[in-house]
Amino acid sequence: MDSAKIAIIGDGAIGSLVASGAQKTHIPFRFLLRGDRESVLQVTGTERQTIRLTPTHFDRLNDNDLLVIPVKHYQLADAIRQWHPILSNSTAVVLLQNGMGGEAILSEYLKSQPVYVATTSHGALKTSPLQVRHTGLGSTLLGRSQESTSAAYSSAKDRQVTELLCQCFPPVAWRSDIRFALWQKLSVNLVINPLTALYNVPNGALSEPRFSDSITRICDETSRVMNALGYSTTQEALEQNVRHVISATAHNFSSMHQDIAHKRKTEIDGITGYLIKQAKKSGVDVPINTALYQQVTALYEP
Ligand code: PAF
Repeated sequence: MDSAKIAIIGDGAIGSLVASGAQKTHIPFRFLLRGDRESVLQVTGTERQTIRLTPTHFDRLNDNDLLVIPVKHYQLADAIRQWHPILSNSTAVVLLQNGMGGEAILSEYLKSQPVYVATTSHGALKTSPLQVRHTGLGSTLLGRSQESTSAAYSSAKDRQVTELLCQCFPPVAWRSDIRFALWQKLSVNLVINPLTALYNVPNGALSEPRFSDSITRICDETSRVMNALGYSTTQEALEQNVRHVISATAHNFSSMHQDIAHKRKTEIDGITGYLIKQAKKSGVDVPINTALYQQVTALYEP
C-alpha cells in the first residue's frame, strides 16, 4: 500500500500548519488552489523555527489519503464543487473550519466519501501571502459528520484518519460527541468574533466590564438554543469557557476582526447566522445575536 498523502484546500493559516506538520513527518502533501499561483512557502512555529514548504504534485487522492478542508465558511461550496472529482469513493475528508452548517454543504457533493469534522484551538496568522505564523499551540477534536451516511466508515478508518491528522497537526483527540464540541466552539465564536470586530479590539479587551452584559446575554441565548436541540448546557458553563478562551488568546485579534480590518467578507453566516437559523427552527428568541448579525453584516459592504 502506498503511503498516505494529504491534500489541503487553499493555503490559509490553519491549512499551512497542517502542511508544515506533514512536511516534518515526511507525509506527501499539496495545496489545492484556484488558478496558477505560488502557495505559502514558510511557516514559522511557536518557537520561531521556520519550515520551508516543498509540496508534492499529485492529481488524485486514493482510499487511504486525506482531503483537509480548512477554508472559510463562505468558500466551502465552491471549493468542494471544484475539488470533489479528485477523490476516490472512500477518500476521507476532514472539514476544519469556524462555524457550523458546512457539513450539510459537503453532503450535497460527497455521497460516498466518509466525512469527518474537526474543531481546533490552534492559533495561526497569515503574515504575508507566502508566510504563516503559528501564534498559539492548541489541540484538535475530530469525529464523524452526522450528515454523512458513507458506507466507507469503519472504526479502522476512524483510527487511520485520527492518526494521520495527529501526525501532522498534533494533538488530535477522537470525539464520538463531536457536535457538542462544535457547539461549544460555536459558543466561543458567537461572543468573541462579532464583539471584537464591532468594537475593533483584541480578544483580551472583552474581559473589560463594559462587555460583561453582552457576553452573558449571548451565552444565555446560545444555551437556550442548545438545550432546545438536546445539547444540555447552561449559560454559566458556556460563559466560563468563553472567558477562559478570552484570557488564553488575550493578545490575538479574532479572525472576524481581521476580516473586517482587511475589508474581507466575514464568516458571520456560519456563526451567528447559523445560531439564528437553529433558533428559528426551535422557536427560541435570540435578540442580541440578531442585532450583532445585522451590525456585522452592515460593516462589510462588498
Ligand atoms: O475565530 C477566531 O479567531 C478563533 O476561533 C477564536 C477562538 C475566537 C480566537 O481568536
